[in-house]
Amino acid sequence: MHLLIPAAGMGRRMGSHRNKLLLTLLGDPLLAWTLRAAEASVQITWIGIIAQPEDKSEFEDILATVAPKKPVCLLPGGVTRQESVYNGLQGLPLGAVRVLIHDGARCLATPDLFDRCAEALRPHREYEPPSGIVAAVPVKDTIKVVDGAGLIKDTPDRSHLWAAQTPQGFPVPLLKDCHEKGLRAGWEVTDDAALFEKCGLAVRVVPGEETNLKVTTPVDLALAEFILKQRPHPQPLSQVGRGG
Ligand code: CTP
Ligand code: MG
Repeated sequence: MHLLIPAAGMGRRMGSHRNKLLLTLLGDPLLAWTLRAAEASVQITWIGIIAQPEDKSEFEDILATVAPKKPVCLLPGGVTRQESVYNGLQGLPLGAVRVLIHDGARCLATPDLFDRCAEALRPHREYEPPSGIVAAVPVKDTIKVVDGAGLIKDTPDRSHLWAAQTPQGFPVPLLKDCHEKGLRAGWEVTDDAALFEKCGLAVRVVPGEETNLKVTTPVDLALAEFILKQRPHPQPLSQVGRGG
């Protein structure tokens, strides 16, 4: 299974002067945690990291520290996440059949989540129509639809609402077609499932992880650190092998 990691953002909402994926959690950059989970996944066999040119050398340092045994490529980022994924899709090896897309900023995703998503993406019955998958969790809050003036317009039934995460997975040729179509039509979306949906293709949810948060604001960084500290082996790579 091929994996693309969009990592070419700016992290504006983090209020940092550089890509938030270079900020550290327990001593290691966010991207190192994401990469380590992907490396530990049994199903992932190839990793493409989508990066801005200015982050390339620091990303290469991270790669040198994590030292993945799987092949890893750095691919050029775009202005938007959508454009970054588009570029990433062009950088997949010829013959890639299925791909998982996972935001670099979701650095708490576990290897097990990657494996379950990869497994769910495989067609399980002959003649089953191809579909995409999205890791998602039922929402806990009551969600309101609010207009530009701050007035609530609707309260959708919560039992039908899921918060979409990544990994999201798709058959490669279909996702490429959806991106091409989206580009021509000027669709602006914040995840790949939305392109699939707009093209009338089926997308199924796969149970995600409550702790699989997207590190977006400084509070998320503090929460992520707290969550990592609860895990059995939260030791940062930067300290592995230093003795003690
Ligand atoms: N991303 C990307 N290319 C872009 C924009 C975003 O590859 N042009 C990636 C980010 O690096 C991140 C993921 O898409 O891993 C999800 O995006 P988001 O959380 O919005 O990150 P940023 O765009 O960096 O943050 P912000 O929107 O606050 O600037
Ligand atoms: Mg963004």
